[in-house]
Order: sequence, then structure tokens, then C-alpha cells
Amino acid sequence: MASLTLRKKGKDLFKKDDDYTTSKYIWNMLDGIIDKEKIIYDPFYNKGETKIYLAELGYKNIIHNKEDFYINHHKYKFDIILTNPPYSNKKKVFNELKKIDKPFIIIVPVSTITKQFIRKTFLDKLQMIIPPKRMQFEKNGVNNNRCWFDCVFLAYKINLPKSITFL
Ligand SMILES: C[S@@+](CC[C@H](N)C(=O)[O-])C[C@H]1O[C@@H](n2cnc3c(N)ncnc32)[C@H](O)[C@@H]1O
Repeated sequence: MASLTLRKKGKDLFKKDDDYTTSKYIWNMLDGIIDKEKIIYDPFYNKGETKIYLAELGYKNIIHNKEDFYINHHKYKFDIILTNPPYSNKKKVFNELKKIDKPFIIIVPVSTITKQFIRKTFLDKLQMIIPPKRMQFEKNGVNNNRCWFDCVFLAYKINLPKSITFL
């Protein structure tokens, strides 16, 4: 019973964790990796900051709208999906990315790479970009340095020169 309660608590916590925003300095780590003229699509919406931050960093074409990714992605033409998805259901995210089969760079906890759903979808097809230090995200406009796990960028069809890029 106790473990059931904990699991339920854990689930709720993950849901809350979904509402973090990727800080501008994190997107800036990809400077020189993504062509700023490309059409970038961040389908996972918190408060809309991706559009603001990427525009401030010089990206010209950004799609980032408040709507359900799974229902709406079909209506867009884009070059790259660039996103930090909800971590509460990564399997669903990767299954959908597999169906879409377009280039992506996605921010996920580093442990994601060992999951069975990655084997089933993107085995041997991903490259990894490792940040110089632990990524910290924003909550309600504040970067509170409280992220307790390490995140990386996983890249698909980006053709980076190395399997693992250390920034
Ligand atoms: C970790 S946040 C990142 C937001 C933004 N992509 C960024 O990088 O700043 C993930 C967001 O996706 C939202 N989300 C969850 N399911 C979604 C869905 N089906 N379609 C669009 N957004 C969704 C959550 O509410 C959460 O705010």
C-alpha cells in the first residue's frame, strides 16, 4: 500500500515536472548545429517561450503553438523538430517521432538512451550532444537550479560528425 501511494505521488510529481521551460542558454548551445533559416517546430507547449527565445537567438522560422502535438503535427511543414518534451510519457513521444520520421533534436534525461522504446524505434540511429554542465530549466520565469538529473540532446538525421558530441 505504501509503495502504491509513493508511486502515485511519483506520478503526480512527474506531471508537475512536465511544465518546465527550456532556458535560452540551453537553446544557444545548439548555435552552429542548426541552420537558422530552417523551419523549426517545437510541438510541446508550456507558455510559449521557445518561440521567443529562438527568435532572440536569430532563428527565422519557428512553429510553436498551444495545441495538442499528436493531433496537430500533421498540418505543418517543417525541417526539424526541436523540443523538450513532457518526460511523463517519453515512450509515446518517441513512437510518434518515429512515425513522423523527420530530423529532430530533443532534450531528454540521459537515462532515456537505455530504454526499450529507444531500441524499438531509433536503435543505432541517434547521436548525442552532451552539454558542458547540467541543464537547468525555468519554472514560472525563474531558473531555480533544482534539476536533479542530467539531460542531453538526442539527435536524429542531423548528420553530426560524431556519435557523441561534447560541447
Ligand atoms: C518540459 S515542457 C517544455 C516546453 C517547451 N517545449 C520548452 O522546451 O520550453 C513540456 C510541455 O509539453 C506540454 N505537453 C504535454 N503534452 C502535450 C501535447 N500532447 N501537446 C503539446 N504540449 C504538450 C506540457 O504541458 C509541458 O508544458
